[in-house]
Amino acid sequence: MSHDHKPTDRRDFLLTLGAGAGVAAITVQAAASLRSLVPNVSYDSPTTVKLGPPSDFPDGLKFLPDERVLVFREGNTFHAISAVCTHLGCTVRAEALPNPQTTEAGGAALRLTHRFLCPCHGSEYKGDGTNVAGPAPKPLAWFRLLLAPDDGQLVIDLADEVGRDFRLTVG
Ligand code: FES
Repeated sequence: MSHDHKPTDRRDFLLTLGAGAGVAAITVQAAASLRSLVPNVSYDSPTTVKLGPPSDFPDGLKFLPDERVLVFREGNTFHAISAVCTHLGCTVRAEALPNPQTTEAGGAALRLTHRFLCPCHGSEYKGDGTNVAGPAPKPLAWFRLLLAPDDGQLVIDLADEVGRDFRLTVG
């Protein structure tokens, strides 16, 4: 009698094993589907971008094509201006001024070394971002710069527009 049971036991065992594997596969797939509905948790604002150590920035202007920003350094102070034309969003081109000037921007002194020209429809901006010609309806945005607390890199917050008196001084 006991050897009559063996094939049945074995079949039951295999059936159970097969069903178990099926359930496991479905569970894994369901978990993956559910996981895809939950966004990755990020404690960093997605609009902040590390730009590298301040020492990587030369005195004057550095254009960062990925972020489409122009970062200016004058000694220990930094500021960043958007390179996105306020007309229809083309990237402006910086042109060095033959004679840099000092102006007042937002109540603070600012050395103007460049002007910005938009290749799409001819808008022109002064070195502080003020629109002076063409269809651009408003000045180029200035963005907040800060230092990353963990590694001291320069960080830009592309969601945080600041006034033209903004300067980050690096000690
Ligand atoms: S997009 Fe710059 S002038 Fe039109």
